[in-house]
Order: sequence, then structure tokens, then C-alpha cells
Amino acid sequence: MKRVLVVHGSRFGQSTKIARAVEDVLEAAGRECDFAALTKDTSPDPERHGALVLVTSVRYGYFDKNAYRLVERYRDWLDSVPTLLMTVSLTARKPEKRDPAVHSYTRKFLEKSGWTPTRTEVVAGALEYPRYNLFDRLAIQLIMTISKGETDKTATIEYTDWDQVRQAAQDFAASLG
Ligand SMILES: Cc1cc2nc3c(=O)[nH]c(=O)nc-3n(C[C@H](O)[C@H](O)[C@H](O)COP(=O)(O)O)c2cc1C
Repeated sequence: MKRVLVVHGSRFGQSTKIARAVEDVLEAAGRECDFAALTKDTSPDPERHGALVLVTSVRYGYFDKNAYRLVERYRDWLDSVPTLLMTVSLTARKPEKRDPAVHSYTRKFLEKSGWTPTRTEVVAGALEYPRYNLFDRLAIQLIMTISKGETDKTATIEYTDWDQVRQAAQDFAASLG
């Protein structure tokens, strides 16, 4: 049985943590995985990998350019295997934003890349003001003010809904047969 390649594109570690949770569910369901950071050289091996999970976060409205690169380079392969895209962002802390058709960053990524993953899941990330530099903190505070969220600069809040993450991983594992 081919392995599942679980790729995580993360700046502060939340997407990595989410990808690990997905991997744990897949392995518990009997699917062996390879775990890899998203880089410009991320390369699925069609001989070895029979499915892909990509977990990647939003930064200032965009995903890591290596996510676009991965899709561009492996488009044919991606269209031929089961795939799960999980996007991670703070806007997704509001449940009504977790519809991929509504979540504008996810929708734009899919439109621009031209990729239609087998399943797309919009997941809430974490807010970690103490870890941000001044510029990033002020920018996030502004975004949170506009969207009526937390602005206390000492706040660290994990909004990720782990039940949602595990359920999506379980459904994906089941779809692999
Ligand atoms: C500098 C910076 C910019 C961000 N920009 C956005 C944004 O434009 N929209 C959004 O919803 N979340 C934004 N976020 C929130 C991140 O997507 C969230 O913190 C996520 O958990 C980060 O995941 P990571 O640790 O895997 O990178 C931003 C976070 C940082 C630190």
C-alpha cells in the first residue's frame, strides 16, 4: 500500500501541530505516512506516495509561495490521487468562515492554483502575540480590531477545533479505502 505524504507549511508551528494530528489519525487508521515540511523542493514520489495532505497557514492574506509551486509542479499527480487541503488562519476562528467557498483566502488559492483537492478543510489557527515582532503584532491587532477579535498583546489563544481536524482526517482515511 502506498504511503500518504503529509506536508506542513508553518511559520509559528500551528500548521505543523495540525498536520501531526492528521498524521496520527491516518496512522491509527492503518495508513503509513511520510511527514515533510513545505519547501521549494517538496517532492512527492509517485512510486511511494498514493495520497497527499497539505496543511498550510495564511500570512497577510496569502499562503506560502511553495504551496503554489507544489501544485504547479505536481498538478497531474495531484489530480490523480486523493488529496486533503487544510488551510489555517485566524479568520477561520469564526465557524461561519469555515466553508471553503466562503473563506476568501482558500477560495482565491484554489482559483489561482487551479487545483481541486478531493477535500478542503478550513481550520482555525492560533494567536500568539508574545511571539510576534512589533510590526506583526500591530498588524494582527489591527486585523483583530476590524474583525472584533482579541487585541490584548499578552494573549495566546489556540482557536483550532481539534474535533474538526480529527474528523476531517478520519473521513479522509476512510475515503482511501
Ligand atoms: C504575520 C502574520 C500574518 C497573518 N496574517 C493573517 C491573515 O491575513 N489572515 C488570517 O486569517 N490570519 C492571519 N494570520 C494568522 C495565522 O494564519 C495563524 O496565526 C496560524 O495559526 C499560523 O499558523 P502557523 O503557525 O502554522 O504559521 C497571520 C499571522 C501572522 C503571525
